[in-house]
Amino acid sequence: MSKKVTKAVFPVAGLGTRFLPATKAIAKEMLTVVDKPLIQYAVEEAVAAGIDTMIFITSRSKNAIMDHFDKAYELETELEAKNKTELLKILKDTVPPNVSFVFIRQAEALGLGHAVSCARPVIGDEPFAVLLADDMVEDGERGCMAQMVALYNEKQSSVLGVERVNPADTGSYGIVKTPDTAEKYAPIEVIVEKPKPADAPSNLAVVGRYILTPAIFDKLEHTGRGAGGEIQLTDGIADLLKDETVLAYEFEGTRYDCGSKLGFLIANVELALLHPELKDDFSAYLKELNKKI
Ligand code: UTP
Repeated sequence: MSKKVTKAVFPVAGLGTRFLPATKAIAKEMLTVVDKPLIQYAVEEAVAAGIDTMIFITSRSKNAIMDHFDKAYELETELEAKNKTELLKILKDTVPPNVSFVFIRQAEALGLGHAVSCARPVIGDEPFAVLLADDMVEDGERGCMAQMVALYNEKQSSVLGVERVNPADTGSYGIVKTPDTAEKYAPIEVIVEKPKPADAPSNLAVVGRYILTPAIFDKLEHTGRGAGGEIQLTDGIADLLKDETVLAYEFEGTRYDCGSKLGFLIANVELALLHPELKDDFSAYLKELNKKI
């Protein structure tokens, strides 16, 4: 019988060096786009995909994520007493009903592949999702992960979310090669982590959305240190490819690279322009600003 994707892994134990000093004491996934931390967008995307167990791979001194998804008794009591019902709803909505949160410590930041392997005892023998919250995807509809789960359910194969990037930027991504097809998805032939543009097999980049079969865990156990001296998820997937089909899926929606300062600023501007309370005033402000620059 086919298994459903009910668990998602959120690796949040990276050092976040590109955002220092903001990320000295908090995970970069707690940085806020308009009025919500990045990790909340990612959890909402997972919930929209039918996932009910959220597994965070976290690190020392980054407890804000655990606090964010916990009940805030004092604040709730205060807002209730003051009859601030709208704010109370916003506060309570951060913790979706019927969703479990699991926190696992990654003792050392040994790389994304190692972070994912830390989830093995909780995942067991099931397919699972991985969401990197600093890649934010806005599709205006069901969400990127829901698109991927639909494809997984149809094909029962691992699925990686991919998009075309500037060929000069391949060194920042895992890059895949697929056969030409008119479809939105294709089986991956080759995957390589952070190739120089001259060595890249294509400009089709893996962004932070994955559905993986549990076979990845055995592969990661034998994955040595790769690019940047880290245990790379890409290298584990390259090994998985030898045994199983792994699909690359060009999702619908806009991806914001919120792990970079420019991408993060762009996400704030574009999400503010979609925000029901802010969009009119913010758009008027931008038009004025545009006259000055
Ligand atoms: P990045 O490559 O973006 O690294 O990690 P980083 O450390 O977060 O950020 P910079 O480059 O220093 O600014 C990709 C994802 O993998 C997680 C990160 O939290 C991020 O979501 N990660 C990375 C871990 O959880 N553990 C690791 O050992 C490495």
